[in-house]
Amino acid sequence: QTAPAPVIVAIDGPSGTGKSSTSKAVAAKLGLRYLDTGAQYRALTWWMLSHGTDVDDPAAVAAAAGRPDIVSGTDPAAPTITADGADASGPIRTKEVTAAVSAVSAVPEVRERITALQRAIATEAPGGIVVEGRDIGTTVLPDADLKVFLTASPEARAARRSGELKGAEATDLAATRAALLQRDTADSSRKTSPLKKADDAVEVDTTDLTLEQVIECVVTLVEDKQQAR
Ligand code: DC
Repeated sequence: QTAPAPVIVAIDGPSGTGKSSTSKAVAAKLGLRYLDTGAQYRALTWWMLSHGTDVDDPAAVAAAAGRPDIVSGTDPAAPTITADGADASGPIRTKEVTAAVSAVSAVPEVRERITALQRAIATEAPGGIVVEGRDIGTTVLPDADLKVFLTASPEARAARRSGELKGAEATDLAATRAALLQRDTADSSRKTSPLKKADDAVEVDTTDLTLEQVIECVVTLVEDKQQAR
């Protein structure tokens, strides 16, 4: 019996839709690799912030876009991310990075660089991969075997995001909601490769679903695709 052909799954959507948890779990269940593309943009942003790049100056961001080595570990049980060898997994979740990442990721030179990294990782993944982001189905991997677009109401997304934050930040639901919607607007309205559902993506509204239900739904979609091939 020959091994099944590698399957490439693209999962896109705004933040707070359960994208990361779903993608990791689906990859683990199906024995696939996992790539968090938001973490790559965040790692580059973190490197820029800690190396004095003015992240509000697109020319400065473009000039620095190719400087650090960004490396992603794609084991869904323990994904890793480094910038020039330094572990970025903690710092990429700080408020400072979250506030700056939309501006950095809107710069075309940044997208070109990170998109090339993503394509190389996806092509080389043995057995296949789940890649999560904003423009995976539309731009990075338009030939993906399965494209999923996750949505949820702003209220549900803000509540989930609050649950991931700690202490005082978690209690301010209104501020979380406002920051999240602001980032969505920036990500959806940028010129280069905005957050957008691919025409051939399956849309899953997760507002009233548990995480387990979303995972089950996507696993079934992948298995159906694999059987059809
Ligand atoms: O998924 P996340 O919140 O970690 O993503 C962080 C930011 O990175 C998000 O605000 C937009 C950007 N991003 C992007 O532009 N394209 C992707 N494929 C993934 C993330």
